[in-house]
Amino acid sequence: MDKTTSIHGMWSSRLMFILAATGSAVGLGNIWRFPYMTSDNGGGAFVLVYLGCILLVGLPILMAEILIGRHGRVSPINTFRKLTRESGVSRHWVAIGWIGIVAGILILSFYSVVAGWTLHYAFLYVKQLAGGAAITDPGATFAALLADPLELTFWHALFMLLTVAVVALGVEKGLERAVRFLMPALFVLLLMLVVYGMTTGFMGQAATFLFKPDWSVITGGTFLSAMGQAFFTLSLGMCTMMTYGAYLPREGVSIGRVGIAVALTDTSVALLAGLAIFPIVLSFGIDPAGGGPGLIFTSLPLAFESMPFGIVYGLAFFGLLAVAAWTSSISLLEPATAFLVERFGVASRKRAALGIAGLSWLLGLLSVLSLNVWSGVRILDRDIMTFVEFIANDLMLPLGGLLIALFAGWALNRTILREQLSDMPPVLFTTWRWLMRVVAPALVLIVLVRAVL
Ligand code: TRP
Repeated sequence: MDKTTSIHGMWSSRLMFILAATGSAVGLGNIWRFPYMTSDNGGGAFVLVYLGCILLVGLPILMAEILIGRHGRVSPINTFRKLTRESGVSRHWVAIGWIGIVAGILILSFYSVVAGWTLHYAFLYVKQLAGGAAITDPGATFAALLADPLELTFWHALFMLLTVAVVALGVEKGLERAVRFLMPALFVLLLMLVVYGMTTGFMGQAATFLFKPDWSVITGGTFLSAMGQAFFTLSLGMCTMMTYGAYLPREGVSIGRVGIAVALTDTSVALLAGLAIFPIVLSFGIDPAGGGPGLIFTSLPLAFESMPFGIVYGLAFFGLLAVAAWTSSISLLEPATAFLVERFGVASRKRAALGIAGLSWLLGLLSVLSLNVWSGVRILDRDIMTFVEFIANDLMLPLGGLLIALFAGWALNRTILREQLSDMPPVLFTTWRWLMRVVAPALVLIVLVRAVL
């Protein structure tokens, strides 16, 4: 049996896998969502719970996903079909793959809308360079964008087309250049913003807000948000990393190490984003709490308008953020596309990608309209976009992750696990296995139950 390659192609090197997995992980989750979730959930305590979730739940499940993928070598649904047969366990585990496909389509629907905002902002700076008006009142600029369904739909569509283009070509071919240079560029830009933050004199206060826990503001909902954010930012719980793992060569790649590399990079980018944004927020006299989804769009332009070369900087920042979102969105589309390709043949890749993305785009229109025409519509106290985000990020991803952990911990036998994690020292292997069997599932379950009750 050929277990060493996948029909969808393989990463050309270990570095390529790390770039792709990091490209998937680092995106709007780090730079748009992490700061505003921190802002809305009271700062330090949220950040600490989030970091705990990354370490005890996220990182181990990340390894599990890569491992299951590399062992299965096909798209998630077929991987579960194959592995349940091979291990002689219940076929019901295949449901994990289906949850993943649905979650992916839901997430992509609003992800593409928000990525559209970043494209729109990049364009605003292009216009400014060409002599257009400055963004003097970012709050009003942002509100004007949200109030305009056509404008939102246009950028949402453009971003979705960019995503389809890469996935239709095959992820490996489409991705390599984007991640190798542009992601490090974004990292440098963030570092420069942190340095700018230091010159504002508000870095101390920002760091206090980010890292000093105030446990009095914590509720069951905070834990759920932190857990959901941990899954979202690491691209976990919907078999994305499993799909990427399926294209990972067996030789010379340590799943433990690449997992750590991806989790560390992702976490650093999120923390850097926090350290970049909050000094700016504070220095312009904005309340760091309760910033909402508009946080980076209403705060960063203030800094860009007042710093030297700020317009170029603003263009680079939002442009590169769109690229980061792009390397993430393709990973949302790839699992479902790979499944259809296995079903209908390699020649169908373009149509498969287009079909799934089209569905997601249509669903995204609900998010677009919930920002304006349907802003009054409430489901469980949320507008439509926030509701979709809640169902997918906070419920489906943790649930998917919980099942993936149980599958790795109980359904797969030790020999398979050991073969995939062959370089892991015995103590770490045993620790990881018990994290999968008991600790991670229990933590996820407690958080889910606490939030619902
Ligand atoms: N992790 C990405 C981000 O932080 C988003 C993302 C890509 C994702 N693929 C995913 C989230 C799979 C959940 C599952 O922006």
